[in-house]
Amino acid sequence: MRLTRDLGRNAFSRGCPAQGAELAEDLERLCALHGPDTIAAVIVEPLAGATGVLPPPVGYLQKLREICDRHGILLIFDEVISGFGRLGGATAAEVLGVTPDIMTLAKGLTNAAVPMGAVAVRDTIYEAALENAKTPIELFHGYTYSGHPLAAAAGLATLEIYAEEQLFQRAAAMAPVMEAAAHSLRGRPHVIDVRNLGLVVGIELAARPGKPGARGKDALMTAGGEALMIRAAGDVIALSPPLIISEDQIGEIFDILSRLLDRLD
Ligand SMILES: Cc1ncc(COP(=O)(O)O)c(C=O)c1O
Repeated sequence: MRLTRDLGRNAFSRGCPAQGAELAEDLERLCALHGPDTIAAVIVEPLAGATGVLPPPVGYLQKLREICDRHGILLIFDEVISGFGRLGGATAAEVLGVTPDIMTLAKGLTNAAVPMGAVAVRDTIYEAALENAKTPIELFHGYTYSGHPLAAAAGLATLEIYAEEQLFQRAAAMAPVMEAAAHSLRGRPHVIDVRNLGLVVGIELAARPGKPGARGKDALMTAGGEALMIRAAGDVIALSPPLIISEDQIGEIFDILSRLLDRLD
């Protein structure tokens, strides 16, 4: 199955375009129920991270875009996790071939070294905000640390390094290695699903009866003892390594995970 690029083995767990479209039709149903003029915007995380690494079903974001266009609703992508290389491109929008009207960004913007967030908007939105602004300052709202020089310097330096070291391309090149390693865990103890997009991987473990999240938490603690930092989103082991990761290091991560799965109750 293809979007703008081959999504490999993961295409299976992302369903088919009909399923993605069906999911997006929920928005159409909400429009029919409440009236599209009552809906200003739809905000989605193109790849849901903290909820357990959920890549979008094939066709889902495209269909959302179509419905938003039909009804004049703004489409907002929260790219705080997916932005800046993790999916093997500058943004999920680029990788998945769907352009939102507004995009929120943070984390990778400064390599998370200094706190900074950003909102990117289409020219038309920016111009509308400027033209309608009652004061010369657009979107008038003040933060103590707006445009902080240290954060801006970190952001500029980070963007320069991404470009100089071609780190988004590197992430794209490492993605199939990550994918193969992740999917090699299929069939291992407790593993009920493996999902991936770019360098982001989710390994879903069966929940212990009556104790959702307990097995994931144990995995997190055990990995820590093996000098591997993972994130547990409930019972999903979430991996999102630095863009400079090497093939050997990917092998090391999955060796540790493999041992961990053998030991986990
Ligand atoms: C997808 C997503 N959106 C938004 C946020 C919040 O971002 P910030 O803390 O920069 O406001 C987070 C934080 O982890 C996140 O993962």
